[in-house]
Order: sequence, then structure tokens, then C-alpha cells
Amino acid sequence: GPALRLGIAGLGTVGIGVVKIVQRHAELLAARTGRRVEITAVCARDRTKNRDADLSGYAWETDAVSLAKRDDIDVFVELMGGHEGAAKDATEAALKTGKDVVTANKALLAHHGQSLAELAESLGRVIRFEAAVAGGIPVIKTLTEGMAGNQIRRVMGVMNGTCNYILTRMEDAGLPYATVFEEARQLGYLEADPNLDVGGIDAGHKLSLLASIAFGTKVAFDDVVLEGIGRISIDDIRRAGDMGYKIKLLGVAQMTGRGLEQRMTPCLVPATSALGQLSGGTNMVVIEGDSVGQIVLRGAGAGEGPTASAVMGDVSDIARGLRLPTFGIPAAQLSDATHASATAP
Ligand code: NDP
Ligand code: HSE
Repeated sequence: GPALRLGIAGLGTVGIGVVKIVQRHAELLAARTGRRVEITAVCARDRTKNRDADLSGYAWETDAVSLAKRDDIDVFVELMGGHEGAAKDATEAALKTGKDVVTANKALLAHHGQSLAELAESLGRVIRFEAAVAGGIPVIKTLTEGMAGNQIRRVMGVMNGTCNYILTRMEDAGLPYATVFEEARQLGYLEADPNLDVGGIDAGHKLSLLASIAFGTKVAFDDVVLEGIGRISIDDIRRAGDMGYKIKLLGVAQMTGRGLEQRMTPCLVPATSALGQLSGGTNMVVIEGDSVGQIVLRGAGAGEGPTASAVMGDVSDIARGLRLPTFGIPAAQLSDATHASATAP
């Protein structure tokens, strides 16, 4: 078929990762999807920045909405971040001008997923966001495709690598939270607003997206019971260890008699369990389906290669003509999530 033409908005960690995969795996992608996948145009704010990839063959835009509206792209790949402003405006502009959208932006989907999904589906377009949840781990595909024959009972996991790094490092090195937080900042692990990580908000965004897909409910980020890791002390970690436990920022979403319950809070998990042994920036997602039982997915939740890998999985689906609804079932059929977490003890 004709080449699938991408417009890449955002040339930071993830955007450059995507450029590199498109360049490195052109033949592989063409063989797997039956068409060539090409980049036509790219967008970032600062054209003079040195970017560790050859961008010379691509048209440049400094305005994401202009990129989104170009008639020489088929897919708008949103890798800028932020849930208001450019990311939202450009995503809407792309859909309205006939493009499909692939994004890694969990904040955007957690806040505006319903309206964006309705817009996309009313226009016959698709929005895919595998990279937004647990980075490189194909958890959305697992739920929507591989587990289609299951009623999902529960989804849980560690979905913020930075918090897992901080907690593991506090334990391994016996260092206080403030020291390790500073270390994480210097390593470049923290989001521009670090409270998104350590406040549990980023992980809460991801959990709310997974819960929507797993249970067929509208994204209900405001109903996630959230507690970050900022008050965990080295003494807490030691005491937990003495009892055979580790402290993890653990997300749990399950359907209860009172509706959907969603929590993202520091939890004790047995030290010898798979979750307990998860160290560094790794993510783990555990899904329980009524037919298959428990499935455990583990892998890199962030970083250039892993996140771009997930973006390219979505691009590949679009190239093959797979046109799934944003949250697995049509947006108009998503039910209201009742506020079980708000009333739970
Ligand atoms: P970066 O900060 O590294 O890159 C952001 C890019 O977007 C930059 O190139 C920046 O331009 C550009 N940009 C930002 N605002 C605008 C704007 N208003 N107009 C045009 N360009 C703009 O971010 P990441 O690559 O780390 O993250 C991108 C997205 O992926 C985010 O939504 C993030 O949450 C998500 N994500 C990131 C992961 C990771 O490991 N980094 C993992 C999973 C998801 P300039 O370079 O000129 O400043
Ligand atoms: N800040 C996030 C994390 C990036 O640490 O997991 C990946 O979404």
C-alpha cells in the first residue's frame, strides 16, 4: 500500500527515539505492516538545538497545530507532553483534519480522554496511547487484544519507574528520601514537575487509563485514591524489611459491588514476591482475567528506546489498518465509573 506518513510533534527523549526506530527499522516495519512508514515533518520549539538524530530530510514546524494540520501527514504523533495547550490543541486539530493520533501523553488522556475519544470516533479516526501506560510494556494491547475473551477482575502494578527507583535506592544504599530525590533529579529521572512522579499523580493517570480499558468505564482520574512517596522514611523501609515486606507505590483497580475502586498508594508487598523483587526503574503490571487467570508483565517503564518501542507498536497497528476504539470499546458505550474509592475505608 501507500507509505504511512508520520508527523512527529516533540523531539525530546521519546520523539528522538521514534525517529531512530523509523530510520533503523525501515525494512522491518515495511515487511511487518505491508507499507513503508516514513516521517514527513517534525516539530519542536527550538530549531537550533542539537538533537542526536539526522532530521535533515524532514519538514520543520515550530507550531504543533501547524504540523497537525499539514496535508502531507497521515498520523500525528504527539510526544510533547502537557495536558493543556499545545498537546491538546494539536491533537484536536489533527483529528479534525483527518489524521489518526498516536501519543505517549498520559496526562492528556487522563484529563481529556473521553472528549478526545468521542471526537476521534465521531470522525472515524483513531487515537492510540500504548506508550502512555508503563512505557515499553504492551499492556494496552494485552488487555484489548490478547485478553479480549476475559472479564477483567483486577489490574494492579508498579507504574512509575522514578518512584520505584527512589524506594529501591533508599533501601539498598540506606539513604534518606531527600538525598535519593536529589540523585534522581540529577540523573534526569524526574518529570519537569517532580510532584507528578513522587506525588503519585503520573502513576494515577496511568492506572485510570488502564482501569477504563479493563472495565469499560469512562476515565475517572479524579476518583483515584492517591498518596505519593514523599513521606516514606528510611525507618519505614527498614521496619517493613524486618517483617519481610517491601514498600512499593502500588496501583490497584478492581470492580467492586459499589463500582470501580482505584488506588495508587504506598503498599507493603512480600519481599519475595515478583512485585517485591522489582527494582530500579522497572514497571510491573499484573492483570487478572476470568478465563486466563493472572498475567504478569514486566519491563522498562520509561526511557528513549522502550517508550519509542511502544509508540511504534501503535504506528504499526495503524499501518496495518487495525482501527480500535480509543479505550477498547466505543467511547459512547463506556459506562460511568461509580465512585467506590471515594467512599471506601
Ligand atoms: P521531553 O521534554 O524530552 O521532550 C519534549 C519535546 O516536546 C521537546 O522536543 C520540546 O521542544 C517539544 N515541545 C514541548 N512543548 C512544545 C510546544 N508547545 N510546541 C512544540 N514543541 C514542544 O519529553 P519526553 O520525550 O520525555 O516526553 C514526551 C511525552 O512522552 C510526554 O507526554 C511524557 O509524559 C511521555 N512519556 C515519556 C517517557 C519517558 O521515558 N521520557 C515515558 C512515557 C511517556 P524543545 O526540544 O524545542 O524544547
Ligand atoms: N516519570 C515516569 C516514570 C516516566 O518515572 O515512570 C514514564 O511515564
